[in-house]
Amino acid sequence: MTPVPEAEEARTRIQMIPSVGPAEFLDLPWESPLEEWPSELLVQATRGLGRHVVRFVDRGGALFALKELQAPLAEREYRLLRRLAAEGVPAVEGVGAVRERETADGEPLADIVVTRYLEFSLPLRVMIARRPLPELLDRLLDAFAGLLVRLHLAGFFWGDCSLSNTLFRRDAGALAAALVDAETCEHHARLTDGQRAYDLQIAEENIFGELLDLEAQAGETVTPAPDPADIVADVRARYERLWSDLTAEEVFARHERHRLEERLRRLNELGFDAEEVEIVSDEHGYRLHLEPGVVEPGHHRRLLARLTGLSAQENQARRLLADIASFRRALEERGERFVSEPAAAGRWLAEVFEPTVASIPRELHGKRDAAEVFHELLEHRWHLSERAGHEVDFDEAVRSYVDTVLRDEADERAVVSDEAAG
Ligand SMILES: Nc1ncnc2c1ncn2[C@@H]1O[C@H](COP(=O)(O)OP(=O)(O)OP(=O)(O)O)[C@@H](O)[C@H]1O
Ligand SMILES: [Mg+2]
Repeated sequence: MTPVPEAEEARTRIQMIPSVGPAEFLDLPWESPLEEWPSELLVQATRGLGRHVVRFVDRGGALFALKELQAPLAEREYRLLRRLAAEGVPAVEGVGAVRERETADGEPLADIVVTRYLEFSLPLRVMIARRPLPELLDRLLDAFAGLLVRLHLAGFFWGDCSLSNTLFRRDAGALAAALVDAETCEHHARLTDGQRAYDLQIAEENIFGELLDLEAQAGETVTPAPDPADIVADVRARYERLWSDLTAEEVFARHERHRLEERLRRLNELGFDAEEVEIVSDEHGYRLHLEPGVVEPGHHRRLLARLTGLSAQENQARRLLADIASFRRALEERGERFVSEPAAAGRWLAEVFEPTVASIPRELHGKRDAAEVFHELLEHRWHLSERAGHEVDFDEAVRSYVDTVLRDEADERAVVSDEAAG
C-alpha cells in the first residue's frame, strides 16, 4: 500500500516547559501572523500600552499571553523570564518560545514568546479607570520602587522600567508589582552603582512621559494629579530609602551587639531575609555588611508557604500569618496547653481558612484571589465589629461581606476588555 502523501507542513520549533501541557499548543495556527489569528481562538483581555502584537489564548483552562518578537528576542526574553522566576523576582512567568515559524508559502515569520497570564493583575490603565491616580499613587509608587529594588538586588538591569511594563496586583491593602516586559533585561553577577543609577534614570524618564500622557488623556475632567516631576522624584526617594534600609553598612560598638539582631529583624519586617551577613571586627567595634545578592525578598511569603502551603503576596502573607498567630493564642486561651506554630497553622488552614474560602459562592471566585478575599473579610469583620460594639461572628461577617462587598466588585482574574485586543 502506498502511504498517503502528507500535506506539506509549515515548520515551527516550539520550546516549552512541560508543566503547561505543550500538547495543547501544537495545533495553534503558528503559520499565520499573530494579528491574523481567528478571533474564536483568542480571549479579549485588556493589555497595557506597548509596541508589539500581544494576544491571549486559553489552553486547557489556563490563559496565556503570546507576544510576537523578532528573533532572537523571543527566546532571549523567555530565558530571562525563567531566570527572573528562579531568582524569585516578581514577573510574568515565561513558559515558552516559538521559533523558526514560516507561512504555508515558506515566508519567515517573527518568533513568539509565551507567558502565563498573570491572574488578578491590572495594568495601570485599568486601575486608573476605576480610581483616580492621586488615590493610587502612594501604593503604586511603593510597589514600583520595591520591584526595581528586588530586580537590582538579584542582579537584573531592567533597561525599560516603566509603569506600562509593570502589572499590579492587590496585596492586602497595598499593591504588588510584577515585571511584564523583559526584552531589555540583563542579568549580572552584581550590578554596579552606575548600572543601578542608569536604570533609575530610565525609570524616571519613562514614568515622567507616561504621566504626561495620562494627564493629556484625562483632560480637564479629573482632579489634577500631582506634578509629574514630583512623582518621579518620589519614586527615586522611595527606591533609595529601601535600598539603603536593606543594604547600608552599619557600624556599631562592642557593647551594641544587639544592633545586629535588630537589623535582621528590621529586614524581616520589610519583607526580606538575609542568606548571610558579614561582620568585620576591629579595635573600634563591628562593621556589618549585607551583600545585595544575599538579601532576598519574600520573608512572609516563604514562612506562610512553609507553614500552610499557601502562596500569597508579601502583605497578604503578613496578614494571614498574623491571623494564624491570633488563632494560636485563642487555642491556648481556650486551655490547650501548648500548640506549636506548625500545628496551629495546620488547624487554622483546616478550620478557618479553607472553610471560609469554600463558603464564598463559586461564581464570585473570579473577583479576588483567595488570600485577598480572606484579607478583605478580616477588614470587613473588623468594621462590622466596630460598628456593632462587639465581636461579630465570623459566619455573619462572611455573609455580609459576600452580599454587600464582593458581589458588586468587578471580576479581576482576567480583565476582559470591551475593546479589540492590541
Ligand atoms: N503574562 C501576562 N499576563 C497579563 N498581561 C500580560 C501578560 N503579558 C502581556 N500582558 C499585557 O500585554 C501588555 C504588553 O506586553 P509587553 O509589555 O510584554 O509587550 P509590549 O509592550 O508590546 O512590548 P514593548 O514594551 O517592548 O513595546 C502588558 O502591558 C500587559 O498588559
Ligand atoms: Mg511593554
